[in-house]
Amino acid sequence: MSSGSFVDVPKDLLKEIKRLEELFTVDTAKLKQITDHFVNELEKGLSKEGGTIPMNPTWVMSFPTGYETGTFLALDMGGTNLRVCQITLTEQKSEFDIIQSKYRMPEELKTGVAEDLWEYIAECLLQFIQTHHGDVSKLDKIPLGFTFSYPATQNYIDEGILQRWTKGFDIDGVEGHNVVPMFEKALKERGVPIKLTALINDTTGTLIASAYTDTKMKIGCIFGTGCNAAYMEDCGSIPKLEHLNLPPDTPMAINCEWGAFDNEHKVLPQTPYDQSIDSDSPRPGQQAFEKMIAGLYLGEIFRLIMVDLHDNHDVNIFSGQDIGKLRRPYTLDSSFLSAIEDDPFENLSETRELFQNQLGIDPNQSELELIRRTAELIGTRAARLSACGVAAISKKKGYKECHVGADGSVFNKYPHFKKRGAAALREILDWPEKADPNDDDPIEILAAEDGSGVGAALIAALTLERVKKGNMHGILHPENFQ
Ligand code: GLC
Repeated sequence: MSSGSFVDVPKDLLKEIKRLEELFTVDTAKLKQITDHFVNELEKGLSKEGGTIPMNPTWVMSFPTGYETGTFLALDMGGTNLRVCQITLTEQKSEFDIIQSKYRMPEELKTGVAEDLWEYIAECLLQFIQTHHGDVSKLDKIPLGFTFSYPATQNYIDEGILQRWTKGFDIDGVEGHNVVPMFEKALKERGVPIKLTALINDTTGTLIASAYTDTKMKIGCIFGTGCNAAYMEDCGSIPKLEHLNLPPDTPMAINCEWGAFDNEHKVLPQTPYDQSIDSDSPRPGQQAFEKMIAGLYLGEIFRLIMVDLHDNHDVNIFSGQDIGKLRRPYTLDSSFLSAIEDDPFENLSETRELFQNQLGIDPNQSELELIRRTAELIGTRAARLSACGVAAISKKKGYKECHVGADGSVFNKYPHFKKRGAAALREILDWPEKADPNDDDPIEILAAEDGSGVGAALIAALTLERVKKGNMHGILHPENFQ
């Protein structure tokens, strides 16, 4: 926004806008510094000693060819919804049929008791199979890819030891344990005819699903409730797997879990608002990078700023109004910021209505300018920091040109996120100006194929295929791969 928009904004408000701009702007030099540190941290995560970024090997050991076939179930337990799909990979290259059902993930399950979570999931699966296949007692077990999008140690593809809950989940008795037996127990109790063939992260699913239709895809990213990426490494570059003596040029998809980048606060420009998000979260000290970028937190950062400007600063915004609703933590999600940034009107009348309807607050014109600028600053910072992760993987792997498949609500719905991310990538990697604005960037972040559906099915298919060929690395229960 040009400074011209602020001509009528009183001085004290302008001072606050300037303060926020200083706090939230990440310039090119800083982006480069973050990226360089990021490259080192990716390396560290692969080392024997390990680092802050988990860099979890996933036992996904090839890209798809496009000729995979078969029918698979996929279960996606993301941060917000539960989705069950049946995917048929057809004979036609890179094509598939899909049927799917979405179930709400009840909020109380996220911080409840483990058994309730697994029972709910098993019930959803049972319902889905009964609807589409009829009597479950007559069915052979159907292979399932389970997209469990949390950091998990996988000594095997059909195992996932939860390292820690992220994205606001906080369920006792799961961290440090393999989630597969818990899940299978609930299935068995209900007679759900399923055999789990792969536990998958959404980023790995995204990588594989995108590579199914576009062989230039080298990185899979999620910018949604959480934020993370996966890419294909060579086993020879993973010192922490050395003891397994895998052939050095064998591919291995790595789920970075880069949300944990800079938990030790060496480079990220954390603001007091970020610190407050962290200390009030169920896992303080964790997911430092994610908490500045992901959809779960963007609205909350904004809310904290608004409350602070009402309570603690001379400007005293929304003076004399009841801000009770605004005081409620996590009351605004990132779609609220999207709507502010999408307001097409010069006088920000849609933003004003939004505040009136959702929060019972009537901002004046200057406050509306501050609101809009704050949303822009938060959204821009998120997009620019995201680019550091993509640049870091590209640098580490020496990718000068590739496609990056991205999915998630922030990537798909947040205004200007793609454009801002692309601009930051250009700054970090020193690309020259485009001759023609329609030219492609050397590294393009593009909308991905459905990772937790098609990606999960493909990974199940690739795993069955490699087991058939005798590659038994990272398989705990070979009997499920018959
Ligand atoms: C969180 C999870 C990670 C997931 C990401 C996106 O960062 O820890 O596993 O990929 O959110 O859903």
